[in-house]
Amino acid sequence: MIAPKENGKLMLVKNSSTRFGLVAVTLHWLIALLFLFMIGLGLVMTRLPITDPWTFPLFQLHKSIGVTIFALVAFRIAWRGGNAAPPLPGNLKPYERALARLTHYGLYAALVLMPLTGWITVSASPLGIPTLLYGVIPLPHIGFIAARPDKEAIETVAGWVHTILAWSALALVCLHFAAALKHHFILRDDVLRRMLPSRALFQRKPRT
Ligand code: HEM
Ligand code: HEM
Repeated sequence: MIAPKENGKLMLVKNSSTRFGLVAVTLHWLIALLFLFMIGLGLVMTRLPITDPWTFPLFQLHKSIGVTIFALVAFRIAWRGGNAAPPLPGNLKPYERALARLTHYGLYAALVLMPLTGWITVSASPLGIPTLLYGVIPLPHIGFIAARPDKEAIETVAGWVHTILAWSALALVCLHFAAALKHHFILRDDVLRRMLPSRALFQRKPRT
């Protein structure tokens, strides 16, 4: 399957041996943007007083986007299962390969666990506030958690895990971003450009 033209060549929908395809690239950048937005939103909403008129709608928006990320990541992992990533350049040291793999696994794990711990937190809240995704689709509480007499303790622990995951994931994203810059500007390879919608973006001038 093929999609838009780049540099006279056609970009594949699936990954090839030299670059990520249209589906992987679209999902990567969409999820990355939503994730970064959610970190900011999480920070703002948890610092507002409970009585502030913005608190309730911002929590509802946070839960809506969080569930959307979960659905997108589930599809992305399934898609990735049938689409191997292009191999890293051959000149990387074994520890650099291992670090790249570990960072990617860590990011995928955070993207799956953050929505789940958020859902557990909401389900365990003694306030029992209902969730309406985008004001339309009801998200039920997890029944066996909502019914537990010790649910307040579960809410506290799940909330902590959710927060710790958020900061750990952000640290991983910083490492990931630094690695992408190192590939592009220091190692001068194609690793960043093969995750971009077009290789014409961020083209380097040849060294003189
Ligand atoms: C990838 C998706 C998500 C990200 C990146 C994310 C991020 C965050 C962040 C940064 C905070 C603020 C932590 C703090 O400083 O206290 C937060 C709080 C919270 N999030 Fe999420 N979240 C995600 C998904 C969800 C989902 C799907 C739900 C619910 C269905 C949810 C429910 C909550 C709740 C209830 C809090 C308040 C926790 C507390 O104060 O203990 N989150 N989230
Ligand atoms: C901040 C800007 C970002 C840049 C410049 C960037 C760049 C890249 C690049 C170049 C790759 C391909 C690496 C390779 O070829 O092996 C990649 C992969 C990946 N990125 Fe990012 N990324 C960014 C943000 C994020 C964010 C916010 C997340 C998730 C929270 C994320 C999650 C991932 C994952 C899971 C992979 C592995 C893809 C796979 O092999 O299936 N990235 N990123």
